[in-house]
Amino acid sequence: MTNRSGKVYLVGAGPGDPGLMTVKGKTLLECADVVVYDALISPPILAMINPAAEQINAGKRRGRHSLIQAEITALLIEKVQSHAIVVRLKGGDPFMFGRGGEEMEDLIQAGVPVEVVPGITSGIAAPAYADIPLTHRAYSSSVTFVTGHESVGKYRPAINWQAIAQGSETIVIYMGIHNLAHIIDQLCAAGLTAATPIALVRWGTRPEQETLIGTLETILEQVATSGFDAPAIAVIGNVVNWQKTLANR
Ligand SMILES: C[S@@+](CC[C@H](N)C(=O)[O-])C[C@H]1O[C@@H](n2cnc3c(N)ncnc32)[C@H](O)[C@@H]1O
Repeated sequence: MTNRSGKVYLVGAGPGDPGLMTVKGKTLLECADVVVYDALISPPILAMINPAAEQINAGKRRGRHSLIQAEITALLIEKVQSHAIVVRLKGGDPFMFGRGGEEMEDLIQAGVPVEVVPGITSGIAAPAYADIPLTHRAYSSSVTFVTGHESVGKYRPAINWQAIAQGSETIVIYMGIHNLAHIIDQLCAAGLTAATPIALVRWGTRPEQETLIGTLETILEQVATSGFDAPAIAVIGNVVNWQKTLANR
C-alpha cells in the first residue's frame, strides 16, 4: 500500500460494563480519527469515542449483516490511508471468537500497520458477574472455551465434543444458544450426566443481565418457557453450583 499515514488498532471493548474497558483502549477511543465498531458494543463504551471522530457501525447480528468481512477490511484499509488513528472496536476480546486474527492477517497482507489491544472476554466476565468462578480448587481444574456456532468443513473438522466433555471440568460456550439442544445431545452422548449443572448468562456485566441456572436435563425447557435468547454465554460444570452457595449472602 502506498501513501499510508496511520495505524489500525484492533481494540477489545470488553463485555459491556464501561468499567471493564482497558485504559489503553479508552485512550485510543478518545483520540481516534475513525472508529469502526461492532453491534454488541454497549452505549457507554461508544460514548467514550472522540466526538470529532468518524463513527461507522459495521454491526453484524445473526442473519443481519451490515457489512461483510471483506467490506470491513477494505474500509479499514481505505481509512488508514488518510487518518492517523483508526480503531476497529470489537466486543470482548478481538482474538476470542471475534475474527480479530483474520482481520489482522488481511491488514498485514495489505501492508497496513496494525496493533491489537486485548479486551476482557465475555466468556470470563459474564460468568464472573453471575458469581460463577470458572476454576475452583474444589470443583474444577480445567476450562475450555468453545464456540457453539462453528464454521465447519472449509477450514477444519467439527468440534470434538467428546474430547471436551471428557477432558475439561468447565466448558464455556460462546454463540451456543441457538444450537443448545444439539450441544447437550453431544455432551450427554460423550458421558456427561443429565444432572450436570449449566448456567446461561445473557448480556453479562450489563444492567440488563439475565441468568438461567439449571441442568442439562432442564435447561432447554427453561429457555423455552422464559423466552431466554442470545447473546449469552453458557457455562457447564460443577462450578455453576458454587453460585448457589452465595445465594443468601
Ligand atoms: C462473535 S462472539 C464475540 C465474542 C467476543 N469477542 C468476546 O471476547 O466476548 C459473540 C458471542 O459472545 C458472547 N457475548 C458477547 N458479549 C456478551 C455479553 N455481554 N454477555 C453474554 N455473552 C456475550 C455471546 O455468546 C455472543 O453470541
